[in-house]
Amino acid sequence: MQGIQDPKLIKHFSYINGSWHSSETEFDVTNPATGDVIAKVSNAGIAETELAVKSAKAALAMWSEKSANERAHLLRNWFNLMMQHQDDLGRILTLEQGKPLAEAKGEIAYGAAFIEWFAEEGKRVYGDTIPGPSADKRIIVIKQPVGVVASITPWNFPNAMIARKAAAALAAGCTFVVRPAAQTPLSALAMAELAERAGIPAGVFNVVTGDDAHGMGEVLTQHPDVAKFTFTGSTAVGKLLIAQCASTVKKVSMELGGNAPFIVFDDADIDAAVQGAVASKYRNAGQTCVCTNRIFVQQGVIKEFTEKLTASVAALNIGNGLTDGINIGPMISKSAADGVNKLVTESVAAGAKIILGGNIDQAGENFYQPTIMTNVTNDMPIAANEIFGPVSPIICFTYEAEVIAMANDSPYGLASYFYARDIGRIWRVAEGLEYGMVGINEGIISNAAAPFGGMKQSGNGREGSKYGLDDYLEIKYLCMGGLDK
Ligand code: SIN
Repeated sequence: MQGIQDPKLIKHFSYINGSWHSSETEFDVTNPATGDVIAKVSNAGIAETELAVKSAKAALAMWSEKSANERAHLLRNWFNLMMQHQDDLGRILTLEQGKPLAEAKGEIAYGAAFIEWFAEEGKRVYGDTIPGPSADKRIIVIKQPVGVVASITPWNFPNAMIARKAAAALAAGCTFVVRPAAQTPLSALAMAELAERAGIPAGVFNVVTGDDAHGMGEVLTQHPDVAKFTFTGSTAVGKLLIAQCASTVKKVSMELGGNAPFIVFDDADIDAAVQGAVASKYRNAGQTCVCTNRIFVQQGVIKEFTEKLTASVAALNIGNGLTDGINIGPMISKSAADGVNKLVTESVAAGAKIILGGNIDQAGENFYQPTIMTNVTNDMPIAANEIFGPVSPIICFTYEAEVIAMANDSPYGLASYFYARDIGRIWRVAEGLEYGMVGINEGIISNAAAPFGGMKQSGNGREGSKYGLDDYLEIKYLCMGGLDK
């Protein structure tokens, strides 16, 4: 792993109870841009996952009894270390995940921002007093940590998706076990190294790396000592995990798939809309659950918007994320690129037209060309499915009510975007969209202060913001009686 200034950030073992834990076998971590094996990492399984849960359980009383200030101090140390090592963490992330280096460093700052946010927010876990039903009673509400939190996190944001969950859990007084995606364990292990340097005590933050998704997932979702399970990933896998959590009635929060509409009305600032569409669609080569998935453009501006979008997207450079000036890195795997190509090909067969890109790129089998398609309808495969790749399907519409109905015609309800200037329309559309997040004249909506999450089959719970702590807290009602004078 060239170019890493602090080689101690490269770890090959699971981090359990404050120790680096080797397993009998290893698995390969591959650079998706080159196909090179960049590291071999311990292949933990069921036994190690159970050990991590046991360690988190053992550390729970010690951690939850610390004051919010003490926890905030340690989280703040962790945040500082992440920012001090932003360059190395970004490089590790690009090497294992593929996104361009500038974007990877941006993800480190994004992940660290959750740690900083929750370090502060943990001090504001306020309770309540409620007027009682009779003079001799008082009703008091306190909030307490739920307990051990288990999580499974995805490869598309190997740092930020862990930070967003772990920071909220730790700030609330919970202990934490994560199984990061097998494609991207190195970012998670580097975070563990920095958590240790920050002084976060043994057992509070545990990382188990392994390729047995099924076996490890069963432990994390079914272990009686896990009080809450949180997952970011596909809706299909999320449904299975929710079902597994049922046997022990765990608290669950799920951040699942999306099919984000991006609507451009006749009265929009077209240049701003083009800029927003490029930012929201082509970030991480289209591999985010909030990426624009369907672009709806009103008849009167479709020509101008399409021409300007095509010019902007044609200027994007595709290649190895470590090379200067690259905007689009590889997809995570050949099968991911092939999957996108299949959606494109099937939609062309159904009548769509490719006006830019439309194929695997000569940069390599994992690279998909930034693509624009027109003549698309809402029922074509490229619109009906979550693309998770750098393709913009453009759908023409005439009326406001028509586009709201088309935008909502999806089982998903995560992110949505629209560009308009008329204030009445802005309220009507914002309220009419069945999505947990709405970008209004804005293509990048994610930040630590905002509640990230979805409706319908895009999941439940919110991450980040003052609401992000709620999923990690139990509400307890204290009824004080016998207060007669
Ligand atoms: C995701 O794709 O899961 C998260 C994207 C974001 O946080 O912006």
